[in-house]
Amino acid sequence: MNSIWPNSATRSSGELQIGGCTVTAIAARYGTPIFVLDESDFKSRIEKWSGSFRSIFGDSTGDVFYAAKAFISVEVAKMINQGGISLDVCTGGELAVARAAKFPGERIEMHGNNKSEAEIEAAIDYRVGTIVVDSLQEIDRVARIAHGKNRIQNITLRLNPGVEAHTHEYIATAHEDVKFGFSIATGAAWDALIAATKHESLKVTGVHCHIGSQIFSSEAFSASAIRLLNFMARYKNEFGGELANLNIGGGVGIAYTKKDNPMAAEDFLRTVKEVIFAESAKLGLKVPRVSIEPGRALIGPSMITLYRVGTTKEVQLEDGTARLYVSVDGGMSDNIRTALYGAEYTAEIANRESSAKARDCRLVGKHCETGDIVINSIDLPSDIAPGDLIAVPATGAYGRSMASNYNHVPRPGVVSVQDGTARTIVRSETESDLLALDVVESAIRLDDKSSGK
Ligand code: LLP
Repeated sequence: MNSIWPNSATRSSGELQIGGCTVTAIAARYGTPIFVLDESDFKSRIEKWSGSFRSIFGDSTGDVFYAAKAFISVEVAKMINQGGISLDVCTGGELAVARAAKFPGERIEMHGNNKSEAEIEAAIDYRVGTIVVDSLQEIDRVARIAHGKNRIQNITLRLNPGVEAHTHEYIATAHEDVKFGFSIATGAAWDALIAATKHESLKVTGVHCHIGSQIFSSEAFSASAIRLLNFMARYKNEFGGELANLNIGGGVGIAYTKKDNPMAAEDFLRTVKEVIFAESAKLGLKVPRVSIEPGRALIGPSMITLYRVGTTKEVQLEDGTARLYVSVDGGMSDNIRTALYGAEYTAEIANRESSAKARDCRLVGKHCETGDIVINSIDLPSDIAPGDLIAVPATGAYGRSMASNYNHVPRPGVVSVQDGTARTIVRSETESDLLALDVVESAIRLDDKSSGK
């Protein structure tokens, strides 16, 4: 399951197929660039995570929340629902998708460090299972809105355990300089808990943290779980009762290139489970209901991006070598991760196999910006030419969801493929979609003060 390509990816007569559909047929029907979702691959990841989670955590199994920010659409929300797992949304927009998919409210948690009143109201009206609160003002806001609706809203406290993780390493300090969460070390977390318990319209059901993304080892998760459990133990000592839920967030890494070596779901879950069980016993706590929130690990490897090569250009470098710039018909508007994080991807010519000698290429997009790079340096067959299709794997997470219309480029759609069939689940934008936002209206006076009277 840790491979870079979706499960169904194979070559037939040299051509790449996904979900039994050839890339040539997909490109002919839907155009390029296009995101292609291997539907059974995605569903099997959902099953894998929820199954392993249930079997490893047993009675302490909480929810696997799919982090919608990685990628969400109405059809994907339905797949998540059918897979029996829960949904993490962090804006009114993501909640609107969940609503459109009729995703059960009680299996939704609402995140966000600056939810608007309208978003809080929408979440309470949709009866979401929990709202994860992230500031003192928000505690008051949620309490006031719930009170106004005569409701008691379950909330979870977003805590900052002082653990920051990236790929292999993590830093554990007391103070982490980030916008998210209430710091345990400074006492802000305890103050928030006290503030929340004063409201009759709120029920604090547990604690949450999220420590980073694309993480390749379990230590940081364990370290932060220990800090949260100690906070829960303090609650027990001072209040008598116990907080039922411990959510350790998302962030489990995936393979983008051969260099990446992600954790297997079971190994990760087993290690974290042992730490949580041991620490709970040490602190005299009942083992809490443990929840997790993977986004990338569920959708990332299930999608590829299909581009078409438009031009190739030989560029002489100062050291006497040359690099081939291969321009595709998308770029930073459908994959900002290379420009934003220096993320690394791999790619292949998808419409044919080539035995031509490999050469160093830079895969670039069509945007008016030098940093519009999909892959900085990659060996591709030297006969790569305009018209070839290029497939970039592992683009399911934070690809389409972070897409933009830079240079007025319409955003690509998403096609779901399975058993030789294809269907659009997000249609590609058109120039008309973009133009539809431009309006010509006559100016109106907004208030009397500005009229100078
Ligand atoms: N839960 C919370 C509260 C989060 O903030 C996130 C991600 C997740 C879960 C899911 O994390 P995942 O399992 O997908 O790593 N745009 C960046 C990633 C930002 C993630 C923000 N929060 C990227 O493209 O790498």
